Amino acid sequence: MKTLVVYYSRTGNTRKIGEEVATALKADVEELKDRKNRQGRVGYMRAGRDAMRKHPADLEPTARNPADYDLVVLGGPIWAFTICTPTRTYATSHKDSFKNVAFLCTAGDARFAQKGCDALGEVTGKAPVATLALGEKDVAGDHAQAVADFVASLNSHGAAD
Ligand SMILES: Cc1cc2nc3c(=O)[nH]c(=O)nc-3n(C[C@H](O)[C@H](O)[C@H](O)COP(=O)(O)O)c2cc1C
Repeated sequence: MKTLVVYYSRTGNTRKIGEEVATALKADVEELKDRKNRQGRVGYMRAGRDAMRKHPADLEPTARNPADYDLVVLGGPIWAFTICTPTRTYATSHKDSFKNVAFLCTAGDARFAQKGCDALGEVTGKAPVATLALGEKDVAGDHAQAVADFVASLNSHGAAD
C-alpha cells in the first residue's frame, strides 16, 4: 500500500508523531509550510483567530500528488478547538484526490484532539480508516502503543484491499 503522511506542525508535536507513523509505514512524507508567520505571541493569536474563522492558509507548494497514493494520513494540531488552518486548507484543496484517509491530531488536552479528526472527516467527506488523537502529555510520554495500534489498523486495511 503506497502511503503519504501529510502534516503541519508549529511546535513539533505533530511532526514527532507523523514521522514515527511514516517510518513504521515506510511512507512518503509531506510537511506543510505556511507562508504566514505563526511564531511568537502574535503568531499564536493570529493562528487561533484564523482557525476559528476557518480562513484558508497560504501554503508553500507541495511536492507530492496525493492521487498517487492508496492512503493519505492527514495530520495537524488543534487550534481553537478545531483542526489547524494549514491542514484544513490542504485537506480542502485535495479532498477529491484522496482514495483512503486516516487522521492524526495532537492537542494540549487529549480530549480535544479527536475534534481535529472529526473536522477532517467533515472537510474530506470521508470516513477515516483509523484515527490517532493524542494530547501533549502523550506526545512527550508514552505513545508507543497508540502509534502501534494506529499503524496496525492501517496495515490491516491495506492487506484487506
Ligand atoms: C493557536 C493555538 C490554539 C490552540 N488551541 C487549542 C485548543 O483549543 N485545545 C487544545 O487542547 N490545545 C490547543 N492548542 C495546543 C496545540 O493543539 C498542541 O500544543 C499541539 O500538540 C501542537 O502541535 P504542534 O507542535 O504540532 O504544532 C492550541 C495551540 C495553538 C498554537
